[in-house]
Amino acid sequence: VTRTYNLEITEQTISPDGFPRAHAQVINGKYPGQLIEACWGDTLVVNVKNSLKTNGTTIHWHGLRMLGENEMDGVNGITQCPVPEADTFTYKFTLRQYGHTWYHSHYSSQYSEGVAAPLLIHGPNTDNWDEEWAPIIVTDWFHTPAYEAFHQSLVALPPSADSILVNGTGRFNGGGSYFQQKFEQGKKYLIRIVNGGTDFDFHFSIDQHVLQVVSADLVPIKPFYTNSLHVGIGQRYSVIVTANQTSSNGKFWLRTEYAAGACQFDQPNFPSGQPDTQRTGIISYANAGSGDPTTSRWTDPVGCADPPIEPHIKWTVSAPQNDILKNTYYAGNDRLTQSHGAFRWELADTPMWLNFSKPTILSLANTTFDPEYAVAKYPYTDGEKFVYMIINSGNGTQNMFSGTHPIHLHGHDFAIISQGDGLFDPNNANLNLNNPPRRDVAMLPNNGHLVIAFKPDNPGVWIIHCHIAWHAGSGLALQILERQSEIANSIGSLQQVKDGCSKWDFWLKTH
Ligand code: C2O
Repeated sequence: VTRTYNLEITEQTISPDGFPRAHAQVINGKYPGQLIEACWGDTLVVNVKNSLKTNGTTIHWHGLRMLGENEMDGVNGITQCPVPEADTFTYKFTLRQYGHTWYHSHYSSQYSEGVAAPLLIHGPNTDNWDEEWAPIIVTDWFHTPAYEAFHQSLVALPPSADSILVNGTGRFNGGGSYFQQKFEQGKKYLIRIVNGGTDFDFHFSIDQHVLQVVSADLVPIKPFYTNSLHVGIGQRYSVIVTANQTSSNGKFWLRTEYAAGACQFDQPNFPSGQPDTQRTGIISYANAGSGDPTTSRWTDPVGCADPPIEPHIKWTVSAPQNDILKNTYYAGNDRLTQSHGAFRWELADTPMWLNFSKPTILSLANTTFDPEYAVAKYPYTDGEKFVYMIINSGNGTQNMFSGTHPIHLHGHDFAIISQGDGLFDPNNANLNLNNPPRRDVAMLPNNGHLVIAFKPDNPGVWIIHCHIAWHAGSGLALQILERQSEIANSIGSLQQVKDGCSKWDFWLKTH
C-alpha cells in the first residue's frame, strides 16, 4: 500500500511550557508534528513543503533502513541539498521495519526548534497489552533559539534547557501543564517512548510501576523488567506497564528525569519556581481524587549505560580479522587547541563540515570524487561480512576532552560488540559476538569505548554522528562511503536531488 502525507514546515510562536517561544519551527502547525502512521511493507510518500522564510530544511527518517534509497535519507550536504523556501521535496521509501520511531529535520539544529514528529509502523503484535499510547516524544526545551544556542556552544558552554517537554507539554516557572494520561485498574498499556532531545538524556519511570521493555529502537527484544530506563537522544523504547497499583489519591508521577553526573556534560539550570524537574507527567486511575500525586520516586535511576538487550532475531557477528580493531576513532572536542577557530566536536581527526550546495551523493556520481571532509570508506562487496567501527570517548587524548555521546548510524542497525569504561584495548578485547544488543543509537560512555559491527548491505553514503544537536552541528560526525562503486546503480533516481540543488543554488543567489 502507498500512503501519502503532506507536511508543511512553518515558523510560529508556540508555548508548550506556558512561555511564548517566538520563531519556533513546526510541522503542520504543531509540536510535536504530524504523526505518520503506516504498515510494515508500505511505501510512504511524503511531500515536504518549506514555508520558512529564511531557512532551508530536510527531513530524516530516523532509524529507517532506506535500503537502496540512500537519496531519500534527508541529510543535507550528504544525500540532498536543503529544500529552499516555498519549495517542496517528495520523499518516497519503503518501510522495512516495524515499531515506532521519529522523523526530524536534519538541517543544522532545526529539529531543536520543533521540526520533529513521531512515526509509527504497525507490524505483527506478539506482545500482550490492552491499550496503546500514541508515541511520546520527550525533549529538553530551550527558550533560546537553537541557532543562537548552537553558536554559543562554539565559543562557550551552550545554554541550558528551560524545561522538559513530554509530547509537547511541560512546565516553566509555575506555568504550563503536566503531561496527563489515564490508567484503568488491571489493564496493560503499551507505551512508546522517543528521546527527541537536543542535549538531554533522561530516565523514564512511573512511580510504583514496573516497566516491561519489549523493543529498543526498531528492534523487538526479549522482554526485560526494570523500574527505570535510561533513554539517550535518538533512542526509543516500547514498554508495557500493568496498571496494578494504588495510591492515596489514585495518581502517580511519571518522570523523565535529567540523567545527571557523567551521563551528560551540560546540566540544566532550571529557573527557581520550577517545583520539581523530575516530575513531568501525571497518571490518573479511574477513581482519582483531586490534587497532585503524592507518590515518591521508588527507585534511584539506573546509570546511563545501554541495557544488555537480546534481539528476537539473532545475529552472530564474526570475529574481526587482522588489524581491524586497531583502527580507532576518537570522539572529542578540540576546546584545548581550538584548531578550527572555535570549540569544535569531531570524530575522525577533523570536524565534519558540510557543503550544503554539493551533497556527497552527487559528487559520487562523478568519477572524480574527492572527499572534502571526514569520510570512512567501506568498499566491501559482501553484504554478509561485518564492518567494525571502534569509537573511543577521547577524553585526555589528542588534546581533546569528551564526555558521553549517543552515537547514531543512518541506514543500518548495528550490533554493540563492546561498550564500557576505558579506551578500547584490542589486545584485551572481550567481544560480545553471539546475539549482541542491536539498535541504531548506542551510548558511548564518558572515558569509555563503543565497538559496533554492521552489515554493509546498503550501498550509499551514510552518516554516523553524535545525536546531541550541538555536537552533530559542530562536526562530531563521519560519512561512511559504503560500497562506493555500486552506489550510483543501487539507489533510485538522482534527478530529484539534482533538481533540488539547482533550486537551492538559485534561492541562495537571489537571497
Ligand atoms: Cu535522528 Cu542523523 O539523526
